[in-house]
Amino acid sequence: MRDFDEHNITAEVIDRYKDTPDPRLKKIMTSLVQHLHDFVRDIEPTEAEWAQAIDYLTRTGKLCTDKRQEFILLSDTLGVSMLVDAINHRFAPGTTESTVLGPFYVQNPPEAAFGADIRGGAKGEPLFMEGTIRSVDGTPVANAIVDVWHSDAEGFYDVQLPELEEPTLRARFHTDAQGRYRFWTIMPRYYPIPYDGTVGEMLKATARHPYRPAHVHFMIIADGHETLVTHVFVSGDQYLDSDAVFAVKNSLIRDFTHEAPGVAPDGKKVDVPWRKLQTDFVLSRAVVKKSAPAA
Ligand SMILES: [Fe+2]
Repeated sequence: MRDFDEHNITAEVIDRYKDTPDPRLKKIMTSLVQHLHDFVRDIEPTEAEWAQAIDYLTRTGKLCTDKRQEFILLSDTLGVSMLVDAINHRFAPGTTESTVLGPFYVQNPPEAAFGADIRGGAKGEPLFMEGTIRSVDGTPVANAIVDVWHSDAEGFYDVQLPELEEPTLRARFHTDAQGRYRFWTIMPRYYPIPYDGTVGEMLKATARHPYRPAHVHFMIIADGHETLVTHVFVSGDQYLDSDAVFAVKNSLIRDFTHEAPGVAPDGKKVDVPWRKLQTDFVLSRAVVKKSAPAA
């Protein structure tokens, strides 16, 4: 076929994928072409605008390193990360809700012992966190991997602070025989997602703020269970209703209580005011995924 115009080109492009052996890939490419063409027909970009779009994506890619992931930020700020999360983790009654991973997770975080202090040199209000990881039937999950990471009192993650030599405010714990985790850290603060790159350009041009409400990230991995990626949000934060990445769920907001100097639940003597959160997490049983039937 020849003589393509704005009305007939989409069908022909889709037809070129008719022999794709993998039915899933065929479905994805067909839908991608259909929606992308519809988007272009809707916008009717000038050639200068299309060049600008390609330049934007090129610069977004060039910003990505092992410490910075601008494409995850773009996905997060467009609400796509949260949409993918919502589709893949439809609510299972009685389990802890999931939310976005975010761009600051680091593979293989440093191992820490039950009850450890992960503050490193970070200054801030001491925070004691503990709880139990349970299966949906209430059984405690022993030896679950509990990865924790969060911002410092100024709203920065360790990977954003080049002067830091060691990971701080992040660690990997294993639950004990009763399924418990416990650690000391400092209170996180609300923070702007990195806005000195292409995502920041987009936010600025569209009069959106870059802030996320204060939270502690958790990723919990246990045999026989779905991996849970979630946050615990600090109640009262000013950005709970306008999170730049759309990740807040009411069920994940907690009161981090204010405690006077004294003895903490682990017997540690604390001589300054401190904060406490005791919260459990409930995991779904692993879903055995069936492969899609051939089209
Ligand atoms: Fe975060």
